[in-house]
Formats: sequence, C-alpha cells, structure tokens
Amino acid sequence: MTIAAVKQAKPAGAAPPPKARQLMEELNANAAKLNIWVRTELNAPAQRPWFKDTGGESGAGQLARGRVAANQLKTLPCRWQWKDYGPLLERIEAIARRADVSPIEFADRQSILLTNPGLGGRLQVTTTMRTAISIYTPGDVAPAHIHSANASRTILSEYGGYTNVEGERCEARRGDLIVTPNGTWHDHGNDSSSSVIWIDMLDWPLMEFLDCAWVDMDYQGAGEGGNANIQKTVHADGYSRRLYGHGGLKPTFVSHRRGWGQNPDAMIHYRGVEVREALHGLRREKGSPYEGIQLQFVNPATGGPVGSTLNYAAQLLRSGEETLPMRETCSTFMVVMEGQGYSEVGGQRFEWEKNDIVVMPNFLWRHHVNTGNGDAVLYTTSDASLMQNIGQYRAQGKAVDGRVVNLVE
Ligand SMILES: [Fe+2]
Repeated sequence: MTIAAVKQAKPAGAAPPPKARQLMEELNANAAKLNIWVRTELNAPAQRPWFKDTGGESGAGQLARGRVAANQLKTLPCRWQWKDYGPLLERIEAIARRADVSPIEFADRQSILLTNPGLGGRLQVTTTMRTAISIYTPGDVAPAHIHSANASRTILSEYGGYTNVEGERCEARRGDLIVTPNGTWHDHGNDSSSSVIWIDMLDWPLMEFLDCAWVDMDYQGAGEGGNANIQKTVHADGYSRRLYGHGGLKPTFVSHRRGWGQNPDAMIHYRGVEVREALHGLRREKGSPYEGIQLQFVNPATGGPVGSTLNYAAQLLRSGEETLPMRETCSTFMVVMEGQGYSEVGGQRFEWEKNDIVVMPNFLWRHHVNTGNGDAVLYTTSDASLMQNIGQYRAQGKAVDGRVVNLVE
C-alpha cells in the first residue's frame, strides 16, 4: 500500500462524494476518548522560520493557528521593574519579622516568582527557566537539599547571607554569581544582621518537561553545629577563587568534580567585584557590535559554559553605547546590575535601570542602548548551552545598513 494520494476519475452522474474532513472529524469524536487525534489539518510547525522573517520587528515567533498549535506556548518579551517588585519583597520581610511563623515554614522560601505572560501562568520566565527572587531575613535557613535542576543565585543586595555548596561557604555580595550545579548539596541562610535579596535562576521547567524534576531534602550529614539542615563548612569562603581565580591557571591536585552530577561546573562562586574589574579592564576594546564588552562565565575545568543547559554572561555598555540588533534561537533573561537605558525586544521598548529585569524570547530582534552618563552592566542567563548541545543554536545580527548577517549558522 502506498501512502501517496491517488486521484481517481469521478464516475459521471455519481452522487457527490462525502466530505472527507467532516468524516474524519467524526472519527475524532471517538478517537479522543482513546487519547488519539486523527490528523485532519496541516501539521504545521508552530512558528514561521525565524531566519527568513526579516520583514518586521515582531513578526518572528508568532504562533500558528488550529488544533496543532492550540496548546503551544510562546515566551513573550517582558519586564519586571525593581520599583514594582522591590516593595513586594519589603512587605514579605515585614510579615516575616512579625508573623507567628516564618513563611519559610509553609512556603519553603520567602520569594516571589516571575511568570511570563505568554506561558499561561506557569512558574517560568521562558520555556526552560524559572526565576525566583528571594529575601532572607536575619536568622533564616533554607535546609540542605539536592536536586536535578541546575540553579544559581545572582546577588542583588550589597552583602549578607550565604550559600554552602558541597561544603564550600560562599558569602554573598552584590554582583556575585553562586551556582549550584545539579547533584550538589546546598543550603542557604542569613547569619548577618540585615536582609539579603538574590535572584534564583533554575532550569526547572526544562527538568519538568523532561519528567526529570526531583528534590531530595534528606541530608544525612552531621551539619554545622550538629544541625543537619546546614552543611558543615569544609572550604572557607573564597575557595573557588583560590582554586580558579587566576585566569589561565588550573590546579592539578583536585578532581574539579563537585557533587555527583555529570560535568558539573567546577567553580561555584564568581565574585561580582572581579566581574566588574574584568569588564572595566576591557573598556577600551572595541567589543562586540551586538553585545558590547561581554564576558562569559565559564567552567574553568573545561573552558565551556557554566552549565550544560544555562549560559551566563556579563556585559558592559559604555555611556551612549548602542548595540546593533541581534536574535538567537535561545531565550535570554537579563538583569540590570548598573546603569540605565533601554532595550528593544521584538519591537517593544523597555526602559530599564538598576535591578530591573527583561526577558528576551528566542527568535526576536533585540538591541540595547545605554542612555545614562555612566556604565551599564547587564547580567544575562540564557538557554544557549542547551541549544548548542542539541545542535540548535543559531544567531543573526543586522549590520549598520540593516543587512542581515548570519553570526552562527
Ligand atoms: Fe536548591
């Protein structure tokens, strides 16, 4: 039997043929009970080919219609401003200080979660990333645990709080990136006298999609001071720096493996002050026309990205600097560590200043402008690592004359 459709001549004077689609839909009425869909329409991809859609700013990424696309979700460009979410965290802090029971007791964390308006209320900012912004009041402890998701903290407060990853104590300061690769035990807390706020990034939605999300809270270690909720500090604050903090030099006497995940990032704690210093030291370079002076956070054991799913970077845009439009197959989360300006994403303009957050979905053109008198420093987290690992990472830029250039084919 061939699957090719063969046109047959209609016999003269015969009754009109039954309507095939209608008959097929009738089949569907019963098939649905069996969790089956009889194909009655074009099985079109949900999106148009992004690399061909050069006509408009926002055309790429629009979803198709019909049964096939009915349950498709698409990340939308979105911004969260500090002036909106900062006061919410203050309110949570006030409740936590006065309430009968710490919100950590019933909610596990004192945090807000960002929900992308294109993703149907799910707890995710893109199809692969979850973002929480947590506040730890003095004395708070988030017990030791381990999970399949890769996660990180980007510290917004000037100082305060800590994360302990596989025995490495990481004292949090503004601009620090503290990673907890999958398969590493970690606990958080705040033993300082002021509250601390940080951004938690996780590839949790990806793990959920893969049906691979799990958390184990049953830490078996003796813990600090006999408290099994808190890991014992094996390596004092600064261990990551002592091991890997001198570029181009890698110690030969450690395994570089943290925890029991596969290919975990060897470096746990990246210091904001050093990121800033490195960016500043390169400020006289031309930089990328699309990203300015950009530095990728890398796993010093491999030179590759921090994670197999998430990629982290920091970029400096000098006063007045305006990047050229770029688009990628990965989606990107951006937090403003310093400065003010705006980003245009898919034709929408988002003004930003310190601590503001912008999500830039895949496929959409975007560019940044530093409108302030000083530097702008932007931290980004994207799923570029994942896209590279599955052979789907591509990027395009626009030249000054508007010509589209393939940056990564
Ligand atoms: Fe965690």
